[in-house]
Amino acid sequence: MTQTIDTQNDHHFQSNKINVNQDFAGAVLKGLSSKKKSIPSRYLYDAKGSVLFEEITELEEYYPTRTEIKLLEENTRDMVGQFPEGAVLVEFGSGSSRKTEILLRTLPHLKAYIPVDVSPTALDDAKARLTKKFPDLRIAPIVANFMEPFALPDWCADAPKIGFFPGSTIGNFKPSEAIGLLEYFAQDLGCSSRLILGVDLKKDEDRLVAAYDDREGVTAEFNLNVLTRVNRELDGTFDVSGFRHVARYNENEGRMEMHLESRKDQSVEILGRRFDFKKGESLHTENSYKYSVQEFHDIGDRAGWENLATWTDEESLFSVHLMTPACN
Ligand code: AVJ
Repeated sequence: MTQTIDTQNDHHFQSNKINVNQDFAGAVLKGLSSKKKSIPSRYLYDAKGSVLFEEITELEEYYPTRTEIKLLEENTRDMVGQFPEGAVLVEFGSGSSRKTEILLRTLPHLKAYIPVDVSPTALDDAKARLTKKFPDLRIAPIVANFMEPFALPDWCADAPKIGFFPGSTIGNFKPSEAIGLLEYFAQDLGCSSRLILGVDLKKDEDRLVAAYDDREGVTAEFNLNVLTRVNRELDGTFDVSGFRHVARYNENEGRMEMHLESRKDQSVEILGRRFDFKKGESLHTENSYKYSVQEFHDIGDRAGWENLATWTDEESLFSVHLMTPACN
């Protein structure tokens, strides 16, 4: 059930030519064998994909990042000014920890900041940068996949916890999975905790589609990069130019979807196995669920969280929620 160190993605075996990440291999072979082909969206973030995602966050069309940052900046005092001293800040999937700085500038004296991420290098970089800016802050990274419950260190057992889950990462999960994830967070953080969480909101379809299909083609490159990753890491033969980036809003499911559509009938080999694509067939690479404020409050409720406050921008593009576990 619990894991402290090490990621789930770390089991490697030696094939003839390349070192294969078994989880990635298993996920890709499974996803391409099913009737509707797919690859889980977490595999979009190799080194190149992470750089491209950072570029996406700066695009004119991609409103979520700057809107959330503005919400955090304008409301930090209301969000965290009242928290007790000696709390521990735990961030799920901390990546570069950029948004955390906004909270750290205002939070009353913390016992520690615990960034949780699968990438040791991202954690090292963030720790080095934050140590310079906040020399008195204890930073205790955990290499873990936040999708599994993980143990926090013993020394913070008695401290109140503040969870931080920005970026609408919650949107990558189906509502049922999002509820499960929020239940884990409540277990990890305990009854006296708070959770600050960013959620992208439902809005005009054109605006959504533009955010996932930008004019410069950065999102297209981000999406197509997963094929390059398969070629490199799984001995794949994808002709990347044989696929087209497609972003569409699925109204029924309330989510943006990214697909890679085959431009022609073609076959691909991956780890010695053959997969056929028909012209126009699509490989589903990401879901990004959008909620109304009320819909998200319902998700929180069902996961055992009470909503304390919600902040949104004037255009109602994005929301930030402050929650606490509803421990009877
Ligand atoms: C990092 C999952 C929040 O869904 O908006 C951006 C990823 N995909 N453009 C999102 C993403 C395409 C992003 N999340």
